[in-house]
Amino acid sequence: MATVDVYVRDTIWTYMVPIGLLSFFLLLFMTDSLKVIRQWYCSKYLTSFSELHDEMIEPIKKALFSDLNNIDSSLTDLRNKGLIRILEIGVGSGSNLKYYPQQCRLVIVDPNPHFKQYFTENVNKFPDINLERYIVSPGERLRGIASSTVDVVVTTTVLCCVENVPKVLKEIRRVLVPGGHYYFLEHVVAAHNTKRWKLQQLANWTGLWKWFHDGCVFRRIDEDIARAGFSDLDISTFTLDDDAQSSKSKLIQMISPHIVGVAIK
Ligand SMILES: C[S@@+](CC[C@H](N)C(=O)[O-])C[C@H]1O[C@@H](n2cnc3c(N)ncnc32)[C@H](O)[C@@H]1O
Ligand SMILES: *[C@@H]1O[C@H](CO)[C@@H](O)[C@H](O)[C@H]1NC(C)=O
Repeated sequence: MATVDVYVRDTIWTYMVPIGLLSFFLLLFMTDSLKVIRQWYCSKYLTSFSELHDEMIEPIKKALFSDLNNIDSSLTDLRNKGLIRILEIGVGSGSNLKYYPQQCRLVIVDPNPHFKQYFTENVNKFPDINLERYIVSPGERLRGIASSTVDVVVTTTVLCCVENVPKVLKEIRRVLVPGGHYYFLEHVVAAHNTKRWKLQQLANWTGLWKWFHDGCVFRRIDEDIARAGFSDLDISTFTLDDDAQSSKSKLIQMISPHIVGVAIK
């Protein structure tokens, strides 16, 4: 082989092949083609990240859910029994179960089938919660749930992960009884052009954050909820404490800005 051919061959192997492979994987990330593997990975390995997050937001969740016990069902048969029906969308392994009233009917929706096992183990610790249904489906399509049949809908850190926020909100409004409550706690995109916002943009557009965090992207969300046609809306913002030191808590700072509140149908 001529020297020039060897040179060309070596150049291809040294640069083109790694660059090609890298682009290929980047393309897979950015188009989320490895979703099946991602869902499995997230159900198995995201737990410690979400446990830390849960710990940090516990007082806020407690306050948010504190008036669940004062809600009377709009559905006669449930009201007569002193029960309410709660629908939790994107339940994961069930971190909100401990905030629910002792006596309630629970309907669950989550598109990731790998969470079911973790959720079932968890729900068994709450013998008074009556799990009516566990539906493996995205929140954008709640076809199996009839309109105006749910007293309370809950999403916590879910709207960052769904494909279409307005569609999910439309379904939430449809299944709620008139006067029904939608409780939400969501992390949102940081204020424009701040350092955190720039980091979020980078993580967002490469698709890397999405891949390693259960389909999560950085969004506003508050505007979508305000536009979803609820009759009343109580929404506030909060950020997670900045004094976190461990590397895991540094990662948590990426999702520091949050919104929390209740919307009434
Ligand atoms: C970050 S986890 C939060 C889990 C739980 N809500 C919590 O607070 O611990 C996001 C959850 O949203 C679910 N999810 C993803 N896409 C969804 C969609 N389109 N509709 C409903 N849930 C979805 C995921 O499967 C996952 O369980
Ligand atoms: C993050 O990326 C998603 C698409 O994956 C996009 O819908 C969203 O608007 C992006 N967020 C920001 C704040 O640019």
